[in-house]
Amino acid sequence: MELLHRAVFTALGALSLVYALVKISLGYWKRRGILHEKPKFFWGNIKGVVTGQRHLQDALQDIYAAYKGRAPFVGFFACIKPFVLVLDLELVRHILVTHAGNFTTRGLYSNPSVEPLSGNLLQLDGHKWRALHAQSAGVFSAANINKLLPRLLQISRGFQSCLGKERLQTLNINQLVDSYNLEVVASMAFGLPVDHTEFRRWTQSYWSNFSLWRAYLALEFPLLARLLRHQSYDKAAMDYFQKVALGQLQEQRKRDRQPLQTFLQLYSRIEQPLDDVQIAAQAFGFVLAGLVPLNATLSFCLYELAQQPELQERVRAEIRGILKQHDGQLTQEGLKELLYTKQVLNETLRLHTPYPLLLRRATKEFELPGSVFVIARGNNVLIPTAAIHRDPAIYDEPLRFDPDRFEAEARRKRPAMSFLPFGDGLRGCIAAQFAEQELLVGLVALLQHHRYAPCAKTVIPQEYDNGRLLLMPKKELYLSVERTDN
Ligand code: HEM
Repeated sequence: MELLHRAVFTALGALSLVYALVKISLGYWKRRGILHEKPKFFWGNIKGVVTGQRHLQDALQDIYAAYKGRAPFVGFFACIKPFVLVLDLELVRHILVTHAGNFTTRGLYSNPSVEPLSGNLLQLDGHKWRALHAQSAGVFSAANINKLLPRLLQISRGFQSCLGKERLQTLNINQLVDSYNLEVVASMAFGLPVDHTEFRRWTQSYWSNFSLWRAYLALEFPLLARLLRHQSYDKAAMDYFQKVALGQLQEQRKRDRQPLQTFLQLYSRIEQPLDDVQIAAQAFGFVLAGLVPLNATLSFCLYELAQQPELQERVRAEIRGILKQHDGQLTQEGLKELLYTKQVLNETLRLHTPYPLLLRRATKEFELPGSVFVIARGNNVLIPTAAIHRDPAIYDEPLRFDPDRFEAEARRKRPAMSFLPFGDGLRGCIAAQFAEQELLVGLVALLQHHRYAPCAKTVIPQEYDNGRLLLMPKKELYLSVERTDN
């Protein structure tokens, strides 16, 4: 009996402690006197998000719309974790660019001693990120991206021939674009020669042991997570990616005078080279940071163009015209001349922003010039880019797909920081130029000889998958694909 009493008292004591901690955490913005959305016990402002009823983007969009104009930022809680939700583009500029030195940390979890491939640029922070960023910047230089174009074109030609000669077919567009982007990652990031079946399998399953709660605890209590040797990804998948990259690095050393075709080669040539496992982690960075947004962007782009045939014809006409001017070859100059196609891609990135938010953590206190607003050291900052991209005060009729918004004149009229699909500043996407090139080359291959239209299996409107942080299609996208005559 006494044992039972003790157990009940201990449980009650533990529950009271948790209750008190939750209450203290959820009182953070009130104590600081900052405007904030009233949080629900334990769920903060994301109840429907945790239960899968809505996407985080919808929750952010609602708060952005309700509070914009009332303060430069508003307090927000992801469960019990307080965030600064930025509402003002001037503050966005300070955080990303002018005072980026105060916000170099992103606050993701990484533990390379237990999970070596988590030592990638996206996940690292602090001095490790700083050193790696300095070494990686040259790898992604414009000159190197140009040098890799021939290999990218070779892949896109193979992909185009896979589209087939059938006059009319119904295709799963997500699978179609994945076959192109996967080939690029497998061969250009990992140096894999041909069969990518196993590689594909692991890119689809490396998240398989993902648990929202464990991820949340790792973010909230990184020291404890390190102590418990928490791993974010499936171990077998990580072993596979590491083995492939290390094997290809060894192969590469045996052969000299190889034409430049892979990022592994570029990483091996930098002045202060990384060790092989660090290079493998950067190759994994392509899978982690690049594959989903590239697939989502190409899928949504075809989805939008399928519904607006006249825009699609305009893109195709531009592609064919440019190719004709350059003797049928896609060159660096030709890519630069694909102005309307680029507008279409930008409009896709605006309307279906793959990364709907940017994250920073203040490493120093920041006082917004000319105001009383202070972001305290250690505050987590969230910039709701997708909500900014759908702000009717910046983009008229924001839900309409209209590539003309990205004509040079229209762009000039918009405020700075109003288009951020790749983030900006010190921690902006290091591969943005390569990603844009990959998307453009992919679109040329997809649209040059093929016309896309909705079919009986097309789900309109496309919804986002609430279970994923990135904005990606919830259901498979099917379109009817017709081969055009010339
Ligand atoms: C459509 C394609 C892509 C989109 C929309 C995209 C977008 C982004 C965004 C929004 C960020 C965060 C930026 C910030 O916090 O300011 C980011 C970071 C990053 N991206 Fe991309 N990305 C794409 C493709 C790629 C690819 C192909 C790679 C291949 C390596 C890549 C590598 C990275 C890395 C390493 C970072 C972290 C940079 C750092 O923290 O220093 N991304 N990306």
